[in-house]
Amino acid sequence: MTNTNRKVLILFAHPSQGRSEANYPLYRAAATLSNVTVVDLYAEYPTYHIDIEREQRRLLDHDVVIFQFPLFWYSTPSILKEWMDLVLEYGFAYGEGGIALHGKILLCAITAGGREEAYCKQGMNHFTVRELLRPIEQTANLIGMTYVPPFALFGSRSARDEGRLNSHTTNYIDLVNALIERRFDITKSRDYDKLNNKLDELIMGRTL
Ligand SMILES: Cc1cc2nc3c(=O)[nH]c(=O)nc-3n(C[C@H](O)[C@H](O)[C@H](O)COP(=O)(O)O)c2cc1C
Repeated sequence: MTNTNRKVLILFAHPSQGRSEANYPLYRAAATLSNVTVVDLYAEYPTYHIDIEREQRRLLDHDVVIFQFPLFWYSTPSILKEWMDLVLEYGFAYGEGGIALHGKILLCAITAGGREEAYCKQGMNHFTVRELLRPIEQTANLIGMTYVPPFALFGSRSARDEGRLNSHTTNYIDLVNALIERRFDITKSRDYDKLNNKLDELIMGRTL
């Protein structure tokens, strides 16, 4: 690991962006940052014919991978699962010689229609978002990536009207920049269920 800035790859999965109030603005804001490459999976692969070699080259060329998506049935939109199934191949991501992703960082930046209080043991959804995204966390473990707990916008369908979208976007940009500039405390972040209200302690030099 060097001390140079990290390169970030954002894999964006949203099947109906024309109706997106939360994800699309977040994606557009992140796309303006230097050291960030954005990939709109539904736009690039409308028939799900994912170019495995191109996707693997993209992974090799970046240090941080962000899965950005709206939570669909407590999971990812289908194209992101397809991407994982095809791109994280034996001999590349795992198995004999499969060390290409070792040491890279994986983060899920999600939006959820449900309220924050619904995502806990006593709440309507019974599980936290980190618990629900365990298959991705364990995939990261298996393929040698460092998993960072999710960054989530809850109550996403009312976030804009309630004036919460702008602050979430600012926080997302701060988080991505801190990952790029190595100002984010990854080790400490792994103690938390989600990054949301922890950014002040996890991002070094963050000005409030
Ligand atoms: C097929 C489908 C499944 C969904 N499943 C969930 C879910 O499991 N949990 C949840 O909180 N919201 C769920 N939602 C709500 C979306 O997460 C919400 O519409 C999205 O975060 C809004 O983001 P956008 O404005 O970018 O579209 C679901 C929506 C759809 C269309």
